[in-house]
Amino acid sequence: MVNKITVVGAGHVGATAAQRIAEKELARTVVMVDVADGIPQGKGLDQWESAPIELFDSRVVGTTDYAETAGSDVVVVTAGIARKPGMSRDDLLNTNAGIVKSVAEQVAKTSPQAIMIIVSNPLDVMSYVALKVTGFPRERVIGMAGVLDTARYRSFLAMELDVSVRDIQAMVLGGHGDTMVPLISYTTVSGIPVTHLLAMDRLDAIVERTRTGGGEIVKLLKTGSAYYAPSSGAVQMVEAIVKDQKRILPCSAWLQGEYGHRNLYLGVPVKLGSKGIEQILEVPLTADEKAALDKSAQAVLEPMSVVKL
Ligand code: 2OP
Repeated sequence: MVNKITVVGAGHVGATAAQRIAEKELARTVVMVDVADGIPQGKGLDQWESAPIELFDSRVVGTTDYAETAGSDVVVVTAGIARKPGMSRDDLLNTNAGIVKSVAEQVAKTSPQAIMIIVSNPLDVMSYVALKVTGFPRERVIGMAGVLDTARYRSFLAMELDVSVRDIQAMVLGGHGDTMVPLISYTTVSGIPVTHLLAMDRLDAIVERTRTGGGEIVKLLKTGSAYYAPSSGAVQMVEAIVKDQKRILPCSAWLQGEYGHRNLYLGVPVKLGSKGIEQILEVPLTADEKAALDKSAQAVLEPMSVVKL
C-alpha cells in the first residue's frame, strides 16, 4: 500500500472509486476532494464508517482543501459534469477543461510527484489538458478509458458465449468515443480466437454495442452517466501502479510516434507499474484495425484543437 491516494470529485464515479480503493487497502489514507462543501466530508465519513464492517484500515477523508491531499502518490481525477441523454462526450469539452485545468494546477502544486489517472470526459482531451497544465512527464498522466471499454466488450462477450468473464482476453484501443477500436484479432477465450466461437455478424454487433456502451447507460439512467464500471476501471489502474504489477492494459497515453501518431492521447496497450506507464507496446494491427485507429485519432484531434487551455 502507498501512503496517500487522492480522488478528485466526490460524485458517483469519484465516491465509488474511493470506496473501492479503501476496500482494497491500496493506501493508508484515501482523500476525496470536491468543491461542493459537505459532500466529500459526508461521503468520506460515511465510507469510513463502513470500515468496521467491510474490514479495511485505509482511512477515508473528505475535504474541499487541496492542502489535505498534499504528497499524494496517485491522484484520480473524476471532476467534471457528466453527459445527459443525447449529449456526446465532446459536448462537455470546455466546461470540463476549465475544471480539469484548475484541478491540475492544484495537483502540480501539492503533489508534484503524483501519478495522475484522468477519468473526466472527453477523456483523451482532458488527459492532454492535465499533461500540459502540470508539466508532468507522460509516464505520470494517464487516461482511463481502454480498461472500461474493454471491460464492457468482455462482459458482452461473456454473456453471448455464456462463459466466465475471466476467460475473455481482449483489448479496446483508440479514443474514448464511438470510434474506439475493439481488436477482434486479439480477442480470445482462454487462448481460443473468438472468431472460432462466434459468427462475424454477432461479433460485429458486440463491437457496435461496446462502442456505444457509455451512451447505452446514459440513456437508461437519464440523469447521468455510468459509474460502477468506470470506477472499477480507474481502480484497476491504481492497483497496477500501487502494487507495481506491470500489467498490460489499454490506457490513453501521450503518443510520441507510436502507432504512427504524435502529440495526442490515444488508447494503446501499456505496461503499468510503480512508475506509471513503463512501456507502450506496439503490436501489429490488421489493415482494418489500423485504419480504424487512425480514424479514432482524428476524432480526438478535432476537440483537442479547439480546447481552451
Ligand atoms: C462511460 O463511457 C462515463 O465515459 C464514461 O460510461
